[in-house]
Amino acid sequence: MTDEILRRAVQTHILSKEEIIRLLSMQNAQTLFVAADEVRRKFVGDGVYLRALIEFSNYCKNNCLYCGIRAGNSHVKRYRLTPQQIITTAKQAVSYGYKTIVLQSGEDLWFDTDKLCEIIREIKKLDVALTLSIGEKTREEYAAYRQAGADRYLLRIETTDKELYEKLDPQMRWENRVRCLHDLKALGYEVGSGSLVGLPGQTVESLADDLLFFQKLPVDMAGIGPFIPHQQTPLATEKADGHFDLALKMMAVMRLLLPDINIPATTAMETLHPQGRLLALQAGANVVMPNTTDTEFRPFYELYPGKICLGDSAEKCRGCVENKIKSIGRFVAHKKGFHGDYLKKV
Ligand code: 5AD
Ligand code: FES
Repeated sequence: MTDEILRRAVQTHILSKEEIIRLLSMQNAQTLFVAADEVRRKFVGDGVYLRALIEFSNYCKNNCLYCGIRAGNSHVKRYRLTPQQIITTAKQAVSYGYKTIVLQSGEDLWFDTDKLCEIIREIKKLDVALTLSIGEKTREEYAAYRQAGADRYLLRIETTDKELYEKLDPQMRWENRVRCLHDLKALGYEVGSGSLVGLPGQTVESLADDLLFFQKLPVDMAGIGPFIPHQQTPLATEKADGHFDLALKMMAVMRLLLPDINIPATTAMETLHPQGRLLALQAGANVVMPNTTDTEFRPFYELYPGKICLGDSAEKCRGCVENKIKSIGRFVAHKKGFHGDYLKKV
């Protein structure tokens, strides 16, 4: 039965909600991973795109119950890179061969539109693609960043279950998050979204809805991360059992539904499994986002515990990731890696 669903998905990239649930519920999902790997190879090839991640501030005005840098966590040592430090870090990343810079932070109001636009303009002088991952903003703010040169924006929906979202993200509104995603699309960004997998109260039905939501938008990129409980949050006593396997299945089904998008092998996958990112790359993923934040700050950007590479320099991670990619017969792609680049052969 799943064989028939998979055969059809590989051909048509269309699945009903019931069929998605069926695939997400597979006990042994090896055939699903093989199908996702086949679709990945056919649509985006063997190249793996690297994105340099700079975690430039862990200040956040929000209070998501799952997140280690929530405003309510008073144990966190807060840090904020200066605009000059951000630009210097970006230059270093470029010297290691990165073609995309991802600027990520909590929702930190210190970085107003003027400051952000200045940083964006400076980084864009380096001939790289620039991705922002800085949360919910107004349409005008998104327009200003775009005007300054930002190319992509990452904003996970986290879950399409509105009730669950608003329970886990008090003071945030699910509709506003969707509004953000639509504004970003309309402004011409490449839009990345994604979900957390294994949240307390999340069902496999709602995970299927997440995938259909990404297909409908449609997203240009989507990252799936297993939820990992953080000791200094209200979800401290939750478990992470089974989250890795379910996240891997989510990612694989996403590849079947959205055959040509960029899918990262997320860092959180490697926190739960020593081979996590390689397994992800062999089950649909084609992007890795190595951390290029200075090691001085890395321990404090603790969204979840057990983050990998805390003591490793940006240079070390760059080399390590490339070796891992080569070890599974793949290679580092040297293009900027926009959605559709592979098909356009640019
Ligand atoms: N476990 C895993 N991922 C998390 N994130 C936040 N908190 C956690 C956690 N406890 C993810 C969210 C956010 C991304 C930057 O980090 O999905 O969008
Ligand atoms: Fe950082 Fe391997 S990715 S050391």
